[in-house]
Amino acid sequence: MTTTTRRSPRRSVQTALSWGLQHGLVRTMLNRAIRDGDPQARLILDPSVREDPYATQEQVRALGPLVRGRLTWVTASHAVTRDVLRSPDFAASGGAQEALPPVTRRVVRWALDARALGPLDPPSMLVVEPPDHTRYRRLVSKVFTARAVEQLRPDVQQVADELLDELARRRPDEPVDLVEGFATLLPVRVICHILGVPDHEHARVLALGNAVAPSLDLGLTYRQYGEVQRGLHGFNAWLDQHLARLRAAPGEDLLSQLVHAEDDGGRLDDVELRATAGLLLAAGFETTVNLLGNGAALLMAAPDARALLRAEPERWADAVEEVLRFESPVQVTGRMAVRDTTVAGRPVAGGEHVTTLLAAANRDPEVFADPHVFDVTRANAREHLSFSGGRHFCLGAALARMEGEVGLASLFARFPDLSPAPGAVRRPTRVLRGWERLPVTTGG
Ligand code: HEM
Repeated sequence: MTTTTRRSPRRSVQTALSWGLQHGLVRTMLNRAIRDGDPQARLILDPSVREDPYATQEQVRALGPLVRGRLTWVTASHAVTRDVLRSPDFAASGGAQEALPPVTRRVVRWALDARALGPLDPPSMLVVEPPDHTRYRRLVSKVFTARAVEQLRPDVQQVADELLDELARRRPDEPVDLVEGFATLLPVRVICHILGVPDHEHARVLALGNAVAPSLDLGLTYRQYGEVQRGLHGFNAWLDQHLARLRAAPGEDLLSQLVHAEDDGGRLDDVELRATAGLLLAAGFETTVNLLGNGAALLMAAPDARALLRAEPERWADAVEEVLRFESPVQVTGRMAVRDTTVAGRPVAGGEHVTTLLAAANRDPEVFADPHVFDVTRANAREHLSFSGGRHFCLGAALARMEGEVGLASLFARFPDLSPAPGAVRRPTRVLRGWERLPVTTGG
């Protein structure tokens, strides 16, 4: 039997309005800007730029350290990106949609579905500032410190070994999708373990996470927006269920601690709890899967680098930094000026947005010699900005780095002749860059 979910006419109007104001108008504006050759618009929407955004990012760089895109200010400069992300003159915001006029923004807020809040909607930690940001971050950060993460290393190694055992059961010449069979499952199992999600729910969490990943992008079609909204509904409903389960039968995990925290002014209300849990869960695997997929693809194409890493495995941590620099899993973020200020000698008014192209900053020739060359021996690869900077610096950076190192080192130790097979497909998302499918053969 199939069931259909009936939506009230009011909700349908709200959804249409919310899409129109957040994405529809922007699409119209961006399509016009693409015809005028605006590089920011091309990076956001032009299908021909998806495969290789780097040439277009270089066009932004060529225009100067801070340029006026059709939608917001844009920078490809490492120094400007780093300064904006750390500057007290800027705050996190819900992305370029916040650049809408105040009245439009108010209508969008009215039209927003409280049961479908996403990672760029308050109270997500990503888009709030102190004192709330400090409160959320303090409650969860102890689990993600470098020291706490090191203690997880044996568990992560065990998960990686189990997944590789599975892959080793295949014939060496039989193509297998590395994203499905390894790059996704490793971070999903790890973050689910940290957040107390039972094994039988992993597949569901993964499907819901994938459905909401495009919510970070701008200029979605009505259909994409509808899919994302349904994904967010499903994700929030699932989270409610999961949190209720932990309330009734708490475990040792982080979310059980949050649910049962004493009310000493630091306790999260239900909406905050759902936003924090949802962000940790989705950010925990939707990004790291790309680090693993991008790393595997880059290293399969670099036999000299593989040979070096085989001979000197202590270099793996640096190699992971170079993967993060070269193919930033999060390509872009941005900030809103909270007062009139100056950036790279140009006046930026309070309320205006600066889009920081993290991936372009990572290829700034002022900081990285031969920036378009993938070089696992690069001494300063760690200066990349793939984890952002300032107050919103990625909470899970230590975990992602460790998963990247354990995952990639174990993969190539087990299958030194891992080779690409036909049929690789990139993810359709723009903010997140990675592989949707990466067929490989394990035996060369
Ligand atoms: C390679 C993997 C990862 C990459 C590239 C990445 C990247 C980022 C970036 C760029 C930001 C900041 C965005 C901004 O400044 O606007 C961020 C924030 C965040 N990340 Fe990650 N991330 C990764 C893995 C993880 C993992 C494993 C977790 C685990 C829970 C995580 C949790 C978070 C959280 C909670 C925030 C919000 C922090 C805040 O706003 O204070 N990330 N991440």
